Amino acid sequence: MSHKKTIFSGIKPSGDLTIGNYIGAITQWVEMQEEYNCIFSVVDYHAITVKQKPEDLRRRILDITKIYLASGIDPKKSIVFQQSAVPAHTELGWVLNCCGTYISDLKRMIQFKEKAGDKQDAVSVGLFDYPVLMAADIILYDTQIVPVGEDQKQHVELARDIAKRFNNQYGPVFVIPEALIKKEGARIMSLSDPMKKMAKSDDNPVGFIALLDSPEVARKKIMKAVTDSGSEIIYDPKNKPALANLLTIHSSLSGESIKSLEKKFAGRGYGDFKKELAEVVAVFLTDFQKKFNKISDADAKKILENGRKQATKLADAKMEKVRKVIGVR
Ligand code: AMP
Ligand code: TRP
Repeated sequence: MSHKKTIFSGIKPSGDLTIGNYIGAITQWVEMQEEYNCIFSVVDYHAITVKQKPEDLRRRILDITKIYLASGIDPKKSIVFQQSAVPAHTELGWVLNCCGTYISDLKRMIQFKEKAGDKQDAVSVGLFDYPVLMAADIILYDTQIVPVGEDQKQHVELARDIAKRFNNQYGPVFVIPEALIKKEGARIMSLSDPMKKMAKSDDNPVGFIALLDSPEVARKKIMKAVTDSGSEIIYDPKNKPALANLLTIHSSLSGESIKSLEKKFAGRGYGDFKKELAEVVAVFLTDFQKKFNKISDADAKKILENGRKQATKLADAKMEKVRKVIGVR
């Protein structure tokens, strides 16, 4: 590859992608395509850490691929592929389980604690071990930068630790990656609870806006979104977390700065603001879905197959090195 830095990121097909995924992760990827070697994966083996219906999983893998493309990921510039199609990911995951990762590392993971709750012994081993597979995804490609939302920072830091420990034991095999977190919009919150992340797995569908929600449904969700006490439109995440979140969504999708939104809505109330936001979201979704619907399943499959070939070449070369240094070749 060229002298450009390599970035790697991915989203798991475990639910319907939200505007949180789009604003927090994907928009950043699109901008980075010009300057970096980009690898974007549909990380399907991460999705099965919790139960999935096979037919839903199959559908979502193609939907996420189309969402990447509709968002502006260009397969001529970036590698777009499905994780399970490149077996080196799970193979390296196993090696890293053994060489570089401690159980105590995984016990510290906030996402595991959140997801397993008080059932830590009754969830799959995969849910516990998942950050190691993620580390493998990243370091397999000599990735330097991992653009993700705030919630993934701890996992990328773990990938750094694992890579360092492996290198200490076996020599400089892996590049040490770094997380890149957006300043604004890195954490879009639920519309029904501004203390909770907007998540695709949310049981309460009013809390999130899916990229494939109909514009009408999305409008209603915005109008129902919780707001804070008071009535002024000002960006104050501490005292007005719900409104701050809505302002961030507006600004991210419309491109208008939060400052200028505050000015525009000075002296006007939440109702006015929400009406405009509902419109911004509806226009965004209409436009996005037009692009999405133009891409056929066959197109998406072709792009994934092409990406598989490119990714396999890189991954296999690294994996062969790993097999050698640990002594199985
Ligand atoms: P996930 O939905 O957990 O598979 O996350 C996929 C990517 O989207 C990761 O980079 C997350 O950090 C990012 N992401 C997910 N939800 C949000 C959110 N509510 N706000 C910002 N980024 C998010
Ligand atoms: N764990 C990430 C998430 O839940 C998805 C992911 C898997 C990922 N492998 C990755 C992100 C590698 C960046 C790089 O969002």
